[in-house]
Amino acid sequence: MKKEIEEYFLKRNCIAEDRVIEEIIRRGGLSYLIKNEKKINFNKGIISFEDLPLEKEFSILKEFNIRGYPGVSNTFETLFSSRLNTLRRALRDSGIPGFQSSIENARKINGEVGIIGLVREVNKIEGKITSVIIEDETDNLRVYLGKNIDDIILEDEVLGITGKFNNKKDVFYANSIKRPEARKERVLLERNSRVLVLSDIHVGSKKFLENEFADMIDYVNSMGISHVIMNGDLVDGIGIYPDQEKDLAINDIISQYKRLSQLISKINKNVRVILIPGNHDIVYSTEPQNPLPKEINDLFPQNVQSLSNPVWIEITGRVFLLYHGTSIMDFVEMFPGFSLNDSKKVMREMIKRRHLGPTFGRNLSFLPLREDFYIMDPIPDVFITGHIHDHSTDNYNGILTINASTFQDQTDYQRMMNFNPRPGLGTVVNTSDLSVEVIKFS
Ligand SMILES: [Fe+2]
Repeated sequence: MKKEIEEYFLKRNCIAEDRVIEEIIRRGGLSYLIKNEKKINFNKGIISFEDLPLEKEFSILKEFNIRGYPGVSNTFETLFSSRLNTLRRALRDSGIPGFQSSIENARKINGEVGIIGLVREVNKIEGKITSVIIEDETDNLRVYLGKNIDDIILEDEVLGITGKFNNKKDVFYANSIKRPEARKERVLLERNSRVLVLSDIHVGSKKFLENEFADMIDYVNSMGISHVIMNGDLVDGIGIYPDQEKDLAINDIISQYKRLSQLISKINKNVRVILIPGNHDIVYSTEPQNPLPKEINDLFPQNVQSLSNPVWIEITGRVFLLYHGTSIMDFVEMFPGFSLNDSKKVMREMIKRRHLGPTFGRNLSFLPLREDFYIMDPIPDVFITGHIHDHSTDNYNGILTINASTFQDQTDYQRMMNFNPRPGLGTVVNTSDLSVEVIKFS
């Protein structure tokens, strides 16, 4: 990639500083250059950082709309085949040699060989995974796992497997497995924005922490925050769980949003506020979820923007992936020993699989889409979830992860469900170096 970019500049009789080339690679490489060539002055001879086009303060990179992208299908087949195709390419591009183009082709090879497939079935003996059935467009295959493999394998995830066929070539003995892990190279950026990341506000609940929320607004207005993200469950909703009425201070959902709007209106108008829905909001609960409907969005001031769940946005040169996080419950159930305060571990497992929720048919119900919208593509610099009211920050494979706390204290229902919230925390992300500050509001 570096060489191609150098050649591009040489053809235009100029050279670029190394730092500029690194930045161009980060922004998308040669295709970025071609798209922006009118904005670059090649007559300068030496291109420095200041000669690159300024990055936008905010843009939407990938958003879901039930009547638009990526389109609803009649069956789940298109979703799964797009998953296999995209993640197979990612595995092949990861520099691990030897993966064959299909299971059928791999059969023709004697000795050690690599295959890639979608996991259709996981078989366990006394709780330990002993074999899986994988499939691709050409075939399916039973794979026995060597004793050295003790990973948790999830149904419907894409795996790269290395090993050997038996003599009859009808089963496969695996000695290692590889995943299409998402990775991001860490680079420093010139410009900085301070982005405050919050989640699970739950306005309308008796346990909504109004004083802490007011303290948060004072902080935003006085501490140079440029963007506030609210990552779903903006209000408590109605009828979300049994007997919710007794936990509600405001028992109609429109009034809950009106109250949220009154509070958000106190945020300075030069701060951009980004909202996505969660499972308590006034959007259908199947995922991906549309942005809040227009009549709700119209309640908010102009500096508020309502987007889909999940959504990919760019803030001052950094890619943020916002996902409310319903699938976290699936991971907690499927990984022995995981609790509802293990958001950090769960988000690592998502990054390993480059996917937000591979397993079909558990807590999360998906729309049948033409493309798999839950693949981490583009790979984010900052990956945000909420939903379990935990708080964590972590760095994994160069990606900053945040489970973004809540403004709701523990309810009786949550106590019964073993939900131990870590409320009243805000996470400030500095976009230039991706450092974080955790603020306790009171
Ligand atoms: Fe919530």
